[in-house]
Amino acid sequence: MTLSHHAPIPELYVSADSAQKLKIEAATLPSWDLTARQVCDLELLMNGGFFPLRGFQSEADYNGTVENMRTADGTLWPIPVTLDVSEKFAETVAAGQDIALRDQEGVILAILSISDKWVPNKSKEAEHVFGADDLAHPAVNYLHNVAGPVYLGGAITGIQQPVHYDFKARRDTPNELRAFFRKMGWRRIVAFQTRNPLHRAHQELTFRAAKEAEANLLIHPVVGMTKPGDVDHFTRVRCYEAVLDQYPASTTHLSLLNLAMRMGGPREALWHAIIRKNHGLTHFIVGRDHAGPGKNSAGKDFYDPYAAQTLVAEHQKEIGIEMVDFKQMVYVQEKSQYYPVDEVPEGSTVLDISGTELRRRLREGLEIPDWFSFPQVVTELRRTSPPRAKQGFTVFFTGLSGSGKSTIANALMVKLMEMGGRPVTLLDGDVVRKHLSSELGFSKEHRDINIKRIGYVASEITKNGGIAICAPIAPYTATRRAVREMIEAFGAFIEVHVATSIEECERRDRKGLYKLAREGKIKEFTGISDPYEAPTKAELVVDTEGTDVDYCAQQVILKLESMGLIKA
Ligand code: PPS
Repeated sequence: MTLSHHAPIPELYVSADSAQKLKIEAATLPSWDLTARQVCDLELLMNGGFFPLRGFQSEADYNGTVENMRTADGTLWPIPVTLDVSEKFAETVAAGQDIALRDQEGVILAILSISDKWVPNKSKEAEHVFGADDLAHPAVNYLHNVAGPVYLGGAITGIQQPVHYDFKARRDTPNELRAFFRKMGWRRIVAFQTRNPLHRAHQELTFRAAKEAEANLLIHPVVGMTKPGDVDHFTRVRCYEAVLDQYPASTTHLSLLNLAMRMGGPREALWHAIIRKNHGLTHFIVGRDHAGPGKNSAGKDFYDPYAAQTLVAEHQKEIGIEMVDFKQMVYVQEKSQYYPVDEVPEGSTVLDISGTELRRRLREGLEIPDWFSFPQVVTELRRTSPPRAKQGFTVFFTGLSGSGKSTIANALMVKLMEMGGRPVTLLDGDVVRKHLSSELGFSKEHRDINIKRIGYVASEITKNGGIAICAPIAPYTATRRAVREMIEAFGAFIEVHVATSIEECERRDRKGLYKLAREGKIKEFTGISDPYEAPTKAELVVDTEGTDVDYCAQQVILKLESMGLIKA
């Protein structure tokens, strides 16, 4: 068993000479610019992390994966690995053809020999793979609102690895890790998968898991794509490095995994176990609610918290990796020590700080006790998450034309400037259309491009500690959500629905546009001949009917205060 774990695993790369030639030939092929997620998938396909897959899945393998977690030849494979493309690109290519796959800078990484092209049933994929066709699940949202409508399948010829400029020394391919284990003489190695910073409870847990399994420990965090809103991987890696010397010397190694997670709970846990086996691990820690996506749209957990352990336990022999189940560790005050939750001495005081509570303390600059985390970790987290009153944020007004968005946004801008402390930028609908989006019209496609541009600029402002105020119509829920995700990676996003009724907007008709729309002289006019999907979860709803602008802007200020974003 140990030998097969540490012998080299097949990769999909050609030799350096062939790669040089292929690169020149591939320059004339039709080419697809990979998305961030596809680059992650391709890297693990090429370096053997997704062994035994030899390319993006064919239709038959995909169907098998979706329906019963097995490819057409019966191999266990629980998560689809497919190349989604736009309809426009799909029309230009056919089965039997080779295409070049390029990264976001245009570098050719691989050639895909297309064997299959099909339109997937995404609702079925969501139901089977993620357990529900519910947009509250980040991967289901991605499937319906980000991924292209057509899938391409086929074998990959690997030309070069995606380039990473960060933490190079901490990134290992499966074969590099296998070679490291051979060199160190490590035979039994337990992997700890994580997308969060490590605190004392995790350190205790992983240390105990390794001791019980009589194994060395690999901290194997995901740095590809995790759940929107997670702590960024730069900060996390600095935190992991700070924790490393808490383990006995030469027993523990840290390696970064460029995986794009799907947050698929039990199926994803199984996938993680296969990926770890491919990286040469013999044991794998599976915790409570492994790769859980949080709550569904009815406010309930998507998966049973122990379903992942059950599923991995059922398949561990077939995969060839042993599961170590995660015992939740809690701090016992009287003993000044961590205990597994089922071994806490009776009558003692158990202390714990949830993820939500930790975020609140960081946000508000409150104390984070030493028993909970390591001082170096807390310092790192505070460096990237200063208290909210010092972070950038975005106020995003949405509503019909003439609802009063711009007027309130202008009033808010002036009030925030009067308070001072952070630069304020107003991205008003009309102004943006003049400067950023002058070539765009009002089709759904163009409106989406317009809103995403606004979102991009607002996310940059937020990241750099400023305040962005946006005031477009932004009629589509999915696009507003995409913008929210872009911004929440850096700071708070406050959606304000200016809920003035269509009747009132039309009665005001400040720009005379409603009249023209009614006469059919303006096409695709929001609320008249084009849809407006009203937000259902906005942070604030204001109505301008019978309320003055000053009061509306004041409501926003109060909201910002209650969220800790502005302080006296
Ligand atoms: S969108 O959907 O968010 O991209 O629209 P937005 O960029 O905010 O629109 C800005 C202004 O364009 C005017 N206008 C129209 N609105 C809606 N539908 C159609 N067809 C249209 N044609 C022009 C309208 O005055 C919007 O300004 P506001 O400030 O919302 O009144």
